Amino acid sequence: MSAQSTGKKAKRLRENDGMTSDLLDMGEVLGVSITCVSETGWFDSGILWDDVQRAGGPQTNQYDIAYTESNLAGFCALLDVEALDGRHSLYLLDSGWSTEWMDHAFAMTGVDSLLQDGEVNTLIVSHDHNDHFFGLESTLKRAPDITMYYPESLGEKSLQLLDGKDFSAIPGCPKNMFPHTGKRIPTRFGNRYYPQSGMAVVPFDVTIPLGVRGENVVYVKVKDKGIVVITGCGHPGLSAILSCPSTNFAGGEKLFGCYGGLHIAPMEQWEPHMQESIELMRKAGLQKIACNHCTGREWGRRALRAGLPVVRGTDKYREFNKVPVLADEADGTLYVGNGDTVSF
Ligand SMILES: [Fe+2]
Ligand SMILES: [Fe+2]
Repeated sequence: MSAQSTGKKAKRLRENDGMTSDLLDMGEVLGVSITCVSETGWFDSGILWDDVQRAGGPQTNQYDIAYTESNLAGFCALLDVEALDGRHSLYLLDSGWSTEWMDHAFAMTGVDSLLQDGEVNTLIVSHDHNDHFFGLESTLKRAPDITMYYPESLGEKSLQLLDGKDFSAIPGCPKNMFPHTGKRIPTRFGNRYYPQSGMAVVPFDVTIPLGVRGENVVYVKVKDKGIVVITGCGHPGLSAILSCPSTNFAGGEKLFGCYGGLHIAPMEQWEPHMQESIELMRKAGLQKIACNHCTGREWGRRALRAGLPVVRGTDKYREFNKVPVLADEADGTLYVGNGDTVSF
């Protein structure tokens, strides 16, 4: 994409460097395939809500809440990025919540051996919410030296967890007996990071319930298609997330697809203003919408009714006696679910 199309001068990026210039040529890749290792944050939203309310409500720090342990699962995705030269690089986005669930999900998707063999050597932490971060031990016991990106605002206890700490005296809180020894890249607000050409990690400064701050969003620019937006929870809001590429990257106004949580009606409490997000998606011109996790079922139903290109799932895990939550709708295929892969 030429610099003229943006009216500003595009600059070449330096890999793994947080540059703060205006519009950058972030490079391109041939494609990105995303495997949903698990989109199931937890099994029953009512149970989680009761746990949070009992501890004092959404302003309570997430490490001070006693959770119902049988209700916990976790978010994690495997990103397979194919560079222009055909070389593949694998990245893990988030590490889930329950270590038991994550061990199961890793085994089902082959991520366990990919970590052990060093084929996945980078973990991008979107944010340290329990369902994205508390399962860290499952990742670190297989790859303690993994390179890790995380928001610079990562909570103090979450940083202690990296070094090996046990918070599990409170039910559902994490422990990690495998201290992280790899490279750490705290992502500073205002900067952008480039694990490889054609791929950017952008940290958003956003205040999030349960004492969390900041979320990394991943953008991948696919040759001849456009930008693929990859989120954990989408806490910065759909408008900010979708408009970021056009104001940061040369050619970033052309969006192609998205994957991950949108944080719209995550507890199925639909409100009229949420309809705007459907229109926002349509205007963005996305051609493949693979949202799941904290995207409410109601959003999925409405997006499909509005004719948006929502990618359906296969409900693959049903045969493994562990069912996803959000994909478990009618025929079980409303969303891309656990074990499904979507290619952009
Ligand atoms: Fe989440
Ligand atoms: Fe979250």
